[in-house]
Amino acid sequence: MKKYNVLVIGDLNVDLILNNIIDLPRIGSEIIANNMQLVLGSSSAIFASNISVLGEEVAFLGKIGSDMFGKVVGDSLVSKKVSTEFIIKNKSLNTGATVVLNYGEDRAMVTYPGAMELLSGNDISDDVLNSANHLHISSIFLQPLLLKDLKDVLSRAKSLGMTTSLDPQWDPSGKWEFDIAQILPYVDVFLPNKKEFLLITGSESLGEGVKKISPFANMVVVKNGSNGSYLWCKNEELTKPAFLNNNIVDCIGAGDSFDAGFISKYIQGRDNSECLEFANLCGGINTTKTGGTGAFESLDMIKEIAVESFGYNF
Ligand SMILES: Nc1ncnc2c1ncn2[C@@H]1O[C@H](COP(=O)(O)OP(=O)(O)O)[C@@H](O)[C@H]1O
Ligand SMILES: [Mg+2]
Repeated sequence: MKKYNVLVIGDLNVDLILNNIIDLPRIGSEIIANNMQLVLGSSSAIFASNISVLGEEVAFLGKIGSDMFGKVVGDSLVSKKVSTEFIIKNKSLNTGATVVLNYGEDRAMVTYPGAMELLSGNDISDDVLNSANHLHISSIFLQPLLLKDLKDVLSRAKSLGMTTSLDPQWDPSGKWEFDIAQILPYVDVFLPNKKEFLLITGSESLGEGVKKISPFANMVVVKNGSNGSYLWCKNEELTKPAFLNNNIVDCIGAGDSFDAGFISKYIQGRDNSECLEFANLCGGINTTKTGGTGAFESLDMIKEIAVESFGYNF
């Protein structure tokens, strides 16, 4: 018996969200925002919080500073019963932060990556890997040292008997340097969205990308917003529609909630079709409340939203 079902390795930061801003910001002047929230940011943390609320025992490994924002990150994870015992605090670094200037449906963001940028394979011991059955890694392009060590970390996890999943997320540098032949053999479930999948595989279409990736990948699950999702593995190909929501609040974190839904079923050994359907449901549920974790306060709340918004019982 392992201590945790899922170990999450990835980005950690806070989001400072400014809302109801009177005007566009201009250099040399000052404007007022009429609303402000300081919340847990980062895809990996949304994934960890939500899969924990879905009922899994979860631990997080990431890097923060020993500062006020680091405390916000730690407290928020603990409030969702995610263990922070493997989080590395560095006194000489600052916790990452994203300032979000929110204008209705759209937003401008400025991110200071801070400590998370310095997480590397050396920070991830075999003992820590051995504490969990499943390893989920996210946002590798925000963590260049981890990206360099990714094959090593994943192959160690596999040799310790873990199952693995990877959500690459966006590459702000636009380089998309990701060696599919080296890394994907050690990834049981690869979870990009469609744009990321096309850029990583250097393809024009899903079919072309799948052809390129199939010699190396075990399972690829491609998220496609309101068009649902697609799954490919050696002996199966599936497409499932999204759970359409007529009252979308926002889509922040939908992909991370999708991942949480998929992996929660995957580690229970459910078939691919059930994993994909539940993932779409969790992505849809995510869009009914603010941010990535608003709809995932408790299992009762998730079940209630599933029935009320989508007529779905689970
Ligand atoms: N507008 C939407 N309506 C219903 N479901 C959605 C919507 N947007 C996203 N989803 C669900 O969430 C999943 C992930 O969303 P997507 O935007 O593709 O990922 P990411 O957030 O990584 O870009 C989709 O595959 C879908 O199941
Ligand atoms: Mg995503």
